[in-house]
Amino acid sequence: MIEPLIEIKSLNVDYGLGDEAVHAVRDVTLTLHRGEVLGLAGESGSGKSTLAYGMTRLLPPPGVVAGGEVIYHDPERGPYDVLSLTNSELREFRWAETSIVFQGAMNSLNPVHRIGSQLTDAIKAHDPRGSRQAREARARELLNLVGIPGDRMESYPHQLSGGMRQRVMIGMALALEPKVVIMDEPTTALDVVMQRQILGELVQLRERLGFSVLFITHDLSLLVEFSDRIAIMYGGRIVEQAPAKQIYTDSLHPYSAGLLGSFPALRGPKRELTGIPGSPPDLRAMPTGCAFHPRCPKSFEPCAQEIPVLGVPDAPGGSDRTVACWLHPVR
Ligand SMILES: Nc1ncnc2c1ncn2[C@@H]1O[C@H](COP(=O)(O)OP(=O)(O)OP(=O)(O)O)[C@@H](O)[C@H]1O
Ligand SMILES: [Mg+2]
Repeated sequence: MIEPLIEIKSLNVDYGLGDEAVHAVRDVTLTLHRGEVLGLAGESGSGKSTLAYGMTRLLPPPGVVAGGEVIYHDPERGPYDVLSLTNSELREFRWAETSIVFQGAMNSLNPVHRIGSQLTDAIKAHDPRGSRQAREARARELLNLVGIPGDRMESYPHQLSGGMRQRVMIGMALALEPKVVIMDEPTTALDVVMQRQILGELVQLRERLGFSVLFITHDLSLLVEFSDRIAIMYGGRIVEQAPAKQIYTDSLHPYSAGLLGSFPALRGPKRELTGIPGSPPDLRAMPTGCAFHPRCPKSFEPCAQEIPVLGVPDAPGGSDRTVACWLHPVR
């Protein structure tokens, strides 16, 4: 049975307060299940990072969570709302349950310390009781896990390639034996071949170690290949969410189709690259109705009038997916 691990319910995140507030995440409802790889895609500025920071309460000011719940189904303690944890409870939650690899993470390795000591420090912070030898053995094991020979422990970050630094960051994230790994576009600085390789390794590790992954990128073709389910964001909202296969073979939202047509598929049948005309909306001056309607090739009368609700489409094979589009009546 697929159990929920994190249920995001009606989450709203703003930058700033009052009339000046920019609503970067709007009414997002999304579930990450135990053991799954959930991909989150959308153009730059669609709110993907804001969602990741908001749900883990790592939002830098002037970001504020303006409403909603993030229910974490803790296997030991039962479900609780991450947004209502006290600061000390929150620290425990972060270390024990979630690891985040940030956008541009490979540059956050400390340039003046060897890889090995950065890893053993992370392990020590997680479990201060172990011996030094045990920590070193664990660091070596983590490096091996992400495909880096153990003798690289002695290297400084600048002595590694970009892809290797990225792997070290993933190793650091796994040092904490997390239940959830959130990767916010960790691979954009790398070439596509390297991105695929790293994501492929992560998916295999997930199978062995049993964590769940929220993987954020704007390259939908990468997600189609590696994730179980995909959620697509536009203008701060989820516009479609479905099993990866369905997004690839019969996406319902015209924006999903546009995104699919913006990146070359590395496998499977060739697609014509069409891109999406126009540019993402300005959050300070959102279009009326569906935010995508000014760019949508299928826009019709209701689209400019009212925001479509995200719901289960009233179509065959629909129960596993949701869409917010006037073309698709929802139950
Ligand atoms: N500190 C801030 N103050 C005001 N607005 C912000 C701030 N940080 C982000 N935003 C706005 O919030 C929106 C969402 O930003 P976010 O970084 O979540 O997008 P993203 O989907 O992660 O984009 P990218 O793919 O470029 O990483 C953007 O329109 C951005 O301009
Ligand atoms: Mg981002």
